[in-house]
Amino acid sequence: MRYPYASGHLIRTGETSTCLAALLGLNTADRERIRLAAPVHDIGKLAIPDDVLLKPGRLDPPERTIIERHSSIGAELLAGGADELLQFASQIARYHHEHFDGNGYPAGLCGERIPLAARIVAVADAFDAMTEPRSYRPAMTDDEALSVIASGSGTHFDPHIAQTFQEGISEILRVREATNRALASGDDMELVARFYGLRLHANGGLRAIAP
Ligand SMILES: [Fe+2]
Ligand SMILES: [Fe+2]
Repeated sequence: MRYPYASGHLIRTGETSTCLAALLGLNTADRERIRLAAPVHDIGKLAIPDDVLLKPGRLDPPERTIIERHSSIGAELLAGGADELLQFASQIARYHHEHFDGNGYPAGLCGERIPLAARIVAVADAFDAMTEPRSYRPAMTDDEALSVIASGSGTHFDPHIAQTFQEGISEILRVREATNRALASGDDMELVARFYGLRLHANGGLRAIAP
């Protein structure tokens, strides 16, 4: 609601992260946890003022500092629940902008100190963001975005995950195609409801569909 058309990026990042997790050999349960948790990685953007969140141009350094708060804010929002899946989602939200070499935010963690799920989502998130048009730049081609992933291997990204992403790109692109087909009909709320197997109510609320 705060950030129109965000659902496409969030759901594609969820599906791409799940595909990447499969390519890395993670088991079904871990893949499903990533699928459910990855789409809320940017939930902290709820707390970012519109003039920064929706600015149609490059952010200046003070604005960057403001938007960078979304990872800690999102983590704190999600950590408020006792549910184990929310705790897992909180870790992804907190660490999805960490860099493998320690130059990311908010904690400056490096290497395998960054939780594995956050290292996976970091690659899927970056690829999807680069290949989507933004108000301040056109979309990159898949090849351009792949070469950014390759050149960020070992600095921005976990090298093993970046390499697996590049080697599995045909599978990743197939998943993206299928996801985009599913995203072609419905507004943001309907798409989120469908992704999570929830029913939309007339009052705009969401409820689980009885099994
Ligand atoms: Fe983010
Ligand atoms: Fe994102």
